[in-house]
Amino acid sequence: MIDRLVYRSRAVGILPEVALDRIFRCSVPKNARLNITGALGFSQQTYVQLLEGPPTAIDALVSTLEADPRHTQLTILLRGTSERRLLPGWSMARVDLAIAAPEADMLLKDDDGLGLIALMATLAHEGVAT
Ligand SMILES: Cc1cc2nc3c(=O)[nH]c(=O)nc-3n(C[C@H](O)[C@H](O)[C@H](O)COP(=O)(O)O)c2cc1C
Repeated sequence: MIDRLVYRSRAVGILPEVALDRIFRCSVPKNARLNITGALGFSQQTYVQLLEGPPTAIDALVSTLEADPRHTQLTILLRGTSERRLLPGWSMARVDLAIAAPEADMLLKDDDGLGLIALMATLAHEGVAT
């Protein structure tokens, strides 16, 4: 069993597109080491992240993320367990939610992470994620 968690947060400072390069450079190898997979979506100043992996690794990463000054207002939308990963092939898929507007904008205002999970998983599987 793995834990599945989705959170939303608000970017601080430089535009997410610029900040993302740095975040991915460090996160992809670290997630691979921790057996964490998932996706990081962004639209304007909002981040949405899907994380799947061992519960203890997810807990530790969330504590790190809560302390990261590059974003704020981190809100956990959903946490549960699953027998199967939605994105087993991605340490962290990069999903530009702006290409899925206006659905993404509507989903980002929602407090239920399910629609965002579905959208990010779909975009990653369609090859829109990098
Ligand atoms: C929006 C956002 C998403 C992030 N996602 C991850 C992630 O999936 N994995 C990761 O290791 N770090 C991620 N980071 C970076 C961590 O907050 C942290 O800087 C990094 O894990 C290095 O932490 P350490 O030096 O304590 O190991 C993210 C940062 C931000 C702002």
